[in-house]
Amino acid sequence: MSVHTPARRLTTRDIAAMRRRGEPIAMLTAYDAIMAALVESAGIDMILIGDSLGNVVLGHETTLPVTLDDMIRHAAAVKRGTSRALLVCDMPFGSVTDPAQALANAVRVMKETGVEAVKVEGGLAMVPMVEALVAHGIAVIGHIGLTPQAVHQMGGYYMHGKDDASAARLREEAKALEAAGVFALVLECVTPALASEITRALTIPTIGIGSGKDCAGQVLVVNDLIGLNVSPPPGFARPRADVAAIIRGAVGEYVAETKAERQPIPMSRRAE
Ligand code: KIV
Repeated sequence: MSVHTPARRLTTRDIAAMRRRGEPIAMLTAYDAIMAALVESAGIDMILIGDSLGNVVLGHETTLPVTLDDMIRHAAAVKRGTSRALLVCDMPFGSVTDPAQALANAVRVMKETGVEAVKVEGGLAMVPMVEALVAHGIAVIGHIGLTPQAVHQMGGYYMHGKDDASAARLREEAKALEAAGVFALVLECVTPALASEITRALTIPTIGIGSGKDCAGQVLVVNDLIGLNVSPPPGFARPRADVAAIIRGAVGEYVAETKAERQPIPMSRRAE
């Protein structure tokens, strides 16, 4: 008789141990139960229910309109589809503006979704909010560099850390967020040399996206990885499949078959 012990869910301690061992951490986004189950079955360590939900699922131009209720609905679905990956839910724009509000909103996310952690976008201004969440037992991931919730303030999507002032600010933000208690730090569109330097300077893992290969882990929007898009993905994404083409092909075949299958059925005289 063989006893099958189900794999247990990864914890923040497992992620820290992977960093200590130098084992790369693989993270992807997912927004629903089926995609999350598929992503998990392929061996992903952490799943981010990103507020990129706004762009790739809800049809918004930016992440700004995404609400806390949107995040909670989708994070709860991802939880239902998974049993092993560590789940991280993004705190959407406007949900972490002061420590008390941030705590109340993060507590809602933890209670209503069952995720293991939340992610907060932003640098030094986020330190008091991160401290408040960590003080109340909530695991937090930070996110600096290109922070899409600040797209209008930043004036677009571009690489960060190219000049001395920007690089110095990112170094300071990384250290301050680590000291505030984040257990990992997303570096989005940070120059690869600086991302590598920050990775070596921290004891927590950095998770890179468009920041070169020398981060402790990598994260991507799953739609960009599998080619499930109607507009081109960011240059760094390197799609490994063209799921959009598969969908168009299958649906086109179905439409053609449905229309070619039989002769027109005449209407009865009464219906005319
Ligand atoms: O919302 C998101 O998907 C993200 C990742 C791109 C890091 O924040």
